[in-house]
Amino acid sequence: MKLLKWKDEYSMNEENIDKQHKSLFKLSNEIYDLVEKGIDDYEHFRKLFLALNDYGIEHFLYEEMYMQEQGYPDLKEHIRQHNEFSNKLKDLCIGIDKETHIREIGEFVSTWLVEHVLNEDMEYKEFVENRTK
Ligand SMILES: [Fe+2]
Ligand SMILES: [Fe+2]
Repeated sequence: MKLLKWKDEYSMNEENIDKQHKSLFKLSNEIYDLVEKGIDDYEHFRKLFLALNDYGIEHFLYEEMYMQEQGYPDLKEHIRQHNEFSNKLKDLCIGIDKETHIREIGEFVSTWLVEHVLNEDMEYKEFVENRTK
């Protein structure tokens, strides 16, 4: 699992989206800290991962509305990726039952978050920037 560090270049130039991304990084880092402390209460981790998922879904909806307002052409594929993430995380949470599992899920969440922001979210940022130039 990765500790996620926010960098200014991750900004989408949209205040709420930046706040939401920072909060998701923070939730992921709180889980990271507990994993590093060696805590293995998987029921507790299930709750934390599901809370992150709930917050993620809220963020995804906001972001999808923003992309729609901006006329982003790849919205459908982007929504598919959001749904794929939250469905996979939910499934992993249902199956969570041992410490090694917690690390695997943490790895999936932290990797997905940073890669999604850097690759997929960055695409709509560039689209909006070019459109408004
Ligand atoms: Fe996204
Ligand atoms: Fe996002």
